[in-house]
Amino acid sequence: MKRIVILISGRGSNMQAVAEACAREGWPATVAAVISNRPQAAGLAWAAERGIATAVVDHQRFESREAFDAALQQAIDAFEPDLLVLGGFMRILGADFTRHYAGRMLNIHPSLLPAFTGLHTHRRAIQAGCKVAGATVHFVTAELDHGPIVAQAVVPVLPGDDEGALAARVLQQEHKLYPMAVRWFVEGQLRFESEVVHHAGGAAQCLF
Ligand code: GAR
Repeated sequence: MKRIVILISGRGSNMQAVAEACAREGWPATVAAVISNRPQAAGLAWAAERGIATAVVDHQRFESREAFDAALQQAIDAFEPDLLVLGGFMRILGADFTRHYAGRMLNIHPSLLPAFTGLHTHRRAIQAGCKVAGATVHFVTAELDHGPIVAQAVVPVLPGDDEGALAARVLQQEHKLYPMAVRWFVEGQLRFESEVVHHAGGAAQCLF
């Protein structure tokens, strides 16, 4: 059984989608813990109610990014993860941290990377006149929102969309995309070829 630790900062709907799919579909994996940098993160209660271990490493209690990263790493490694899943985890992670989890840390970002790294992705996509938007699951590297892409989901940007409407349409797809990608990882289906990620069985790495 692969051990998954999920990091959240808030609502945790992607965490829920992954944990529910893991249980429902009988993956060879277990969600060992959900860890938040915010004590009030709503997703913590959801996880605790389902008997998943939870922990908080509050970034406000640390004087430096390095000290926070080190404490977070210690909290995570206590659960001996095979895979670290970032689900709306809104802290930038340092190079030592990303190196420690290289090849075993996934993130979901609400844009079609490499477009729109960083924040306010939906607002920026609408302002740029994009006709499609989406989400990307990628391996995490030291460069923010830049690691090797595992899978992407595409949705239309419709006339009259505001940030909220587009975010909701993308989020629906995130809840399909992230479980799919995490399942591939725990089943050992992901292959690297010159920094490009392929599905070993040739599955389509995109959702429309
Ligand atoms: C999701 O839309 C996720 O893609 C985004 O935050 C939201 C978290 O929602 N992540 C990022 O912006 C990371 N840079 P959730 O807490 O309900 O999963």
